[in-house]
Amino acid sequence: HKPMEVDLVIFGGTGDLAMRKLLPALYHLYCDGLLASGARIVGVAREELDRAAYQASARQQCEGHLGKNFSESKWEGFTAQLYYCTIDARKLTSYASLAECLGSRNDRDRVFYLSTSAALFADICRNLSETGLISPQSRVVLEKPLGHDLESSRQINDQVGQFFHETQIYRIDHYLGKEPVQNLLALRFGNALFEPLWRRDCVRDVQITVAEQLGVESRGEFYDGTGALRDMLQNHLLQLLCIVAMEPPASIAPDVVRDEKLKILRALRPIKGHDVAAKTVRGQYRAGAIAGKPVRGYLEEDDVPNDSDTETFVSIKAEIDTWRWAGVPFFLRTGKRMQEKLAEIVVNFREPPHTIFNSPVGAFTNRMVIRMQPEETVELHLLAKQPGEEVQLRPVQLNLDFSETFRTRRLEAYERLLIDVMRANLTLFVRRDEQEAAWSWVESIMAGWQASQERPRNYTAGTWGPAASNSLMASSGLQWHEEI
Ligand code: BG6
Repeated sequence: HKPMEVDLVIFGGTGDLAMRKLLPALYHLYCDGLLASGARIVGVAREELDRAAYQASARQQCEGHLGKNFSESKWEGFTAQLYYCTIDARKLTSYASLAECLGSRNDRDRVFYLSTSAALFADICRNLSETGLISPQSRVVLEKPLGHDLESSRQINDQVGQFFHETQIYRIDHYLGKEPVQNLLALRFGNALFEPLWRRDCVRDVQITVAEQLGVESRGEFYDGTGALRDMLQNHLLQLLCIVAMEPPASIAPDVVRDEKLKILRALRPIKGHDVAAKTVRGQYRAGAIAGKPVRGYLEEDDVPNDSDTETFVSIKAEIDTWRWAGVPFFLRTGKRMQEKLAEIVVNFREPPHTIFNSPVGAFTNRMVIRMQPEETVELHLLAKQPGEEVQLRPVQLNLDFSETFRTRRLEAYERLLIDVMRANLTLFVRRDEQEAAWSWVESIMAGWQASQERPRNYTAGTWGPAASNSLMASSGLQWHEEI
């Protein structure tokens, strides 16, 4: 691939995401020779800074995130392509400086990365348009949260849609940029082995867990207005579910893949009325310990009201009403301050219909575990005969560890996605109808919670969530993967 010749403008250029993820990712792309020497990265924010001050601040903040990958000379080269513009996003007149910085060549590819509150998106798009900065080659990247319900997400999409065509809009879900998630596509559709088994006849249940040990850190105010369902499940977990459950797409073309994901979102059985209590569990952490260190409870976190009923944990029994998946529960679970940092998809296969061995091995079933965090692995759990004169079966694993198998540096999610934006590849970005279908499914759960007025259930920080989450499994005669 040729180096990418684009101008990338980051609104929110002094913000946390820019410093923690975007600039470090762009630095890596620069080091890998993927940024053309004429490509420019322009940080945009309200702060009155000159270019040198922005570069210095970026260096100070990115150096730590880059760790051993930071090289003085490479950074020098990278920052030669890094610019800064002071802009009040709401004020049309302040865009003149950006126009000057970008120059008049409207035939260049421009990417506007909106890493600001969505409340500013409409103004930013309008002002870019009125300043004549949007051309057919321009693209816009939208960071989450894109609204807090269906209505607000529609509004944002309508506003941005006035200035950018849907094919120019890149809604980021960074989970789709993670290597193992793309590997799941490779595993499913690059091999003939699994696809025939990937259906109700052979799969008993699927469990998708994204557990974090972190609490809400310095984001108490934002998080309290959001909660785990909106922050993680509506986007990341549902996207993972789509990749696991979708039909084989006819090609990897963006709309072909996204059409298949959309069909899954639309086939999710609505959870409403009594089902909300029966199929969902919401929790909130109390003081406890993470890796032996005491941590405070959610209600004691900074900027969280002490009577908050925002959930920091959610688990859901989802069902997909299609021929392929009828009767197969998909359990989704995510939470803050959990026992481990773990992101994994577990596909549990059905028991053999008949056994010829008289050595029971408990609740064993064949299982495929696709782990994204802490390490990137795929495990296949099988039964094998233990060496010896007796025929004694024992669970064993076939393990694929990506870091051992492929010793090259693996791209961070944001690197992968930035490459795709710059190359105008929409496959790993969320289309408007997908996003709205996800909101629509989640909305009835939110409504059910609101109607019930029940507080979230407590769980101790450093555990796997409220006991009710285990009961949710038990009611289907199952257990969470780590309990087995
Ligand atoms: C973000 C959420 O989208 O994902 C955060 O807003 C969460 O609350 C983060 O911590 C988790 O991402 P990752 O890649 O660290 O698992």
